[in-house]
Amino acid sequence: MLIAHISDSHVAEYGKKAYGLVPTSEYFEKCIHHMNSLDPKIDLIVITGDICGNPTIGENKRAADLLSTLKIPYYIVPGNHDKRSYLLEYFPQACPTELDGFIQYTIENYDLRIIALDSITEGKSGGALCKTRLDWLDRKLAEQPKRPTMLMLHHPPIKYGVHETDTDGFVGAKEFGDIVEKYSNITRVLCGHVHMSCHAGWRNTTISTTASVGMQLVLDLTLKKDSAFSIQPPSYQLHYQNSDGEIISIVVPVSGIDTPGPFKFEEYNK
Ligand SMILES: [Fe+2]
Ligand SMILES: [Fe+2]
Repeated sequence: MLIAHISDSHVAEYGKKAYGLVPTSEYFEKCIHHMNSLDPKIDLIVITGDICGNPTIGENKRAADLLSTLKIPYYIVPGNHDKRSYLLEYFPQACPTELDGFIQYTIENYDLRIIALDSITEGKSGGALCKTRLDWLDRKLAEQPKRPTMLMLHHPPIKYGVHETDTDGFVGAKEFGDIVEKYSNITRVLCGHVHMSCHAGWRNTTISTTASVGMQLVLDLTLKKDSAFSIQPPSYQLHYQNSDGEIISIVVPVSGIDTPGPFKFEEYNK
């Protein structure tokens, strides 16, 4: 099974760029084309939020136009730059919510089970999982405690050494971890928000964040400076389940954007 994980596309309205600088929509289009063209075929795409840079109708319409070209089933959880009502209006099939007031659901029809969590508080940047959302998660995990399962949500529940997102915080991170730690079948916790591709061990599982589709945070572990971003070609993460059931996570750069290559080793290794 092949799962692609993308995040933080921060799509801008037609004729605009994110922050006036980043052609995120054009990058997103190229990323979609790359995923559509991959051989072997991707089974499923999970999108961990910040679809748009601002929760406007124009940005959601453009994101919906872009995602309508995707030939692979996809699912979405909201990010802090999104608005639940717009996601439900423009991407209803990708947000089959099972919990009133939140975009939480499970994806059952694949080898791996996926549980989607809604970690936003509209109007705030930080993450949150309240008792209602956590109780729902615990119930869902208890239903199938042996089946390999991935969780997907926008905010990672740990500090990444990024001043801005570390300061934003995550309300309920400890309680979330206490639930996750009860189960041994959670193969990954897929997140976005930090605009970096990272893996971190946490509570007997691995949190895996994927890069943004176009704008990455500049690494600064001093935790003192204001966060900055750089414009970089998009990438996505592929989670490949091998024949022994192990999950291999691979960063896939989207080629052909401002960067030369690919170069064949056999031609240049002389
Ligand atoms: Fe973001
Ligand atoms: Fe975010």
